[in-house]
Amino acid sequence: MNKQLILAKRPIGMPDADTWTLQSTPVPEPQAGEVVIQHHYVSLDPAMRGWMNDARSYIPPVAIGDVMRAGSIGKVIAVNGHDQFQVGDVVTGWGGVQQYVATNGEGYYKVDTNLAPMPTYIGTLGMPGMTAYFGILEVGKIQEGDVVLVSGAAGAVGSVVGQIAKIKGCRVIGIAGGPEKCQYLVEELGFDAAIDYKNESVKAGIKTHCPKGIDVYFDNVGGDILDAALARLRRHARIVICGAISQYNNTEPVKGPSNYLSLLVNRATMQGMVVMDYAKGYREAAMQMGQWMMEGRLKSKEDIYEGIENFHETFQRLFSGDKKGKLVLKIIEEGQ
Ligand SMILES: NC(=O)c1ccc[n+]([C@@H]2O[C@H](COP(=O)([O-])OP(=O)(O)OC[C@H]3O[C@@H](n4cnc5c(N)ncnc54)[C@H](OP(=O)(O)O)[C@@H]3O)[C@@H](O)[C@H]2O)c1
Repeated sequence: MNKQLILAKRPIGMPDADTWTLQSTPVPEPQAGEVVIQHHYVSLDPAMRGWMNDARSYIPPVAIGDVMRAGSIGKVIAVNGHDQFQVGDVVTGWGGVQQYVATNGEGYYKVDTNLAPMPTYIGTLGMPGMTAYFGILEVGKIQEGDVVLVSGAAGAVGSVVGQIAKIKGCRVIGIAGGPEKCQYLVEELGFDAAIDYKNESVKAGIKTHCPKGIDVYFDNVGGDILDAALARLRRHARIVICGAISQYNNTEPVKGPSNYLSLLVNRATMQGMVVMDYAKGYREAAMQMGQWMMEGRLKSKEDIYEGIENFHETFQRLFSGDKKGKLVLKIIEEGQ
């Protein structure tokens, strides 16, 4: 049977366990031109929270009664006249939170697990890594010597943003929750400094670590931290609006920045980005990041939890911060 996680209702605030139901259906058969993929891992991303809202966005919301949308990776187990994939291929795409999916293969990519393990292909070599790569290089337009501040810095996107900025010769300051994550940023990932937003003033931390101001702020969290960064921009600074996780479960309207006139004073720009716009460059970006990983200059960390039954408990870790690196849910053991 195929266990599937179904969106049962539209949550208000933090989703509770009844937001989804688990159903079992027969494992699908491939129709003509289709393949069936057995999922081993699905990706848990903050964006999933937005996809549950019935609101206009860059992608339609998940419909009530549909399988919860998610990035996935697994093995092709059946093929019916497909010219791109064969049985045994490992492929990644948007298969959703379910154990098996039948698909025509559109939007799926074949990956090589001799080069990196499956979870890395939905992390640093997948959507979050691509977000970091194009966000900091193409939107942030970093230059050697820039002072780069990144929030959500110990997470899937932020940790890669900071490391790429270091590779490009920037001074990098990360913002993360708790001393352990801050220590990880500096001691393991090579950030120049870290600010623990749960235990210290972000405003004071930015002043200490960026005494001459910020050239690029990569924003993953929004809210008060965005406002604190805005207050210390350098001339021609760039702000990358990647996400605003502090606002995703709000029951009140999103809190916008009050320090936005700093953009005027400093001739700065603030630009939103959506990773899907850069799909044409994914292959090249993955090759570059794979190269940096092989050279030991880019570290990738995945935090893997097990069982589709534990989706809700695991999903909450995105918002509590109780996880290290990319959050992944194992759906079926590899080799089974
Ligand atoms: N625009 C795009 O195309 C795109 C693509 C991918 C992701 N994103 C966005 O990028 C951001 C990071 O995504 P990710 O996949 O890398 O997630 P992640 O960082 O792996 O997980 C979320 C992290 O956010 C932090 N957090 C949670 N609530 C917070 C709050 N109220 N204030 C400050 N930090 C908070 C937690 O870390 P701490 O322990 O440090 O609090 C948590 O670990 C999200 O906003 C996401 O929506 C955007």
